Amino acid sequence: MSTDNVVDTGRRRFLVASTSVVGAIGAGFVAVPFISSWMPSERAKNAGAPVEVDISKLEEGRLLIVEWQSKPVWILRRSKKTLADLAKNDDRLRDPDSKNAAQQPPYAQNHYRSIKPEILVLVGICTHLGCSPTYRPDIAPADLGENWLGGFFCPCHSSRFDLAGRVFQGVPAPSNLVVPPYKYLSDNVIRIGDDKGAA
Ligand code: FES
Repeated sequence: MSTDNVVDTGRRRFLVASTSVVGAIGAGFVAVPFISSWMPSERAKNAGAPVEVDISKLEEGRLLIVEWQSKPVWILRRSKKTLADLAKNDDRLRDPDSKNAAQQPPYAQNHYRSIKPEILVLVGICTHLGCSPTYRPDIAPADLGENWLGGFFCPCHSSRFDLAGRVFQGVPAPSNLVVPPYKYLSDNVIRIGDDKGAA
């Protein structure tokens, strides 16, 4: 298995380099723990085939970015506090209950928008015009306000999403971030792009 770097500059640009260990990260990520890992074959990448990801080294609060069908897919291990805080956002969200069925498979149409509550899997592309939002887990930062409990911020037109990928009211993005089809092959291996037999 190879470990690759992903640099997310905040727009829909991301760089995947065939080197080990994480290198430079975007300015918005400076203080954010960040790792990346993926292992598709060249042939699989070209075909847009499912991608298998080992999350055994993914620590709480860290965001893993892999590429699937030429799109960044985020995998985030959320803490118990993060999961508890989600409910505090509900009355400020456009679709807190994920009623828009197009934005996630049925098995992620729940409060956490995931199969296992702690592991969030999202397509990292803004539902407005396709930029890639930045991961902002910091609580109440000066630029995002005292109500910010961590989430994703799109720098293109300031759309905001919480740590379940749910969009806030009053921003240009019309819908929650997309949860791709996925399933667990084992406790620590996720297959993205294939949910046959998923929970
Ligand atoms: S593309 Fe994200 S807010 Fe416009």
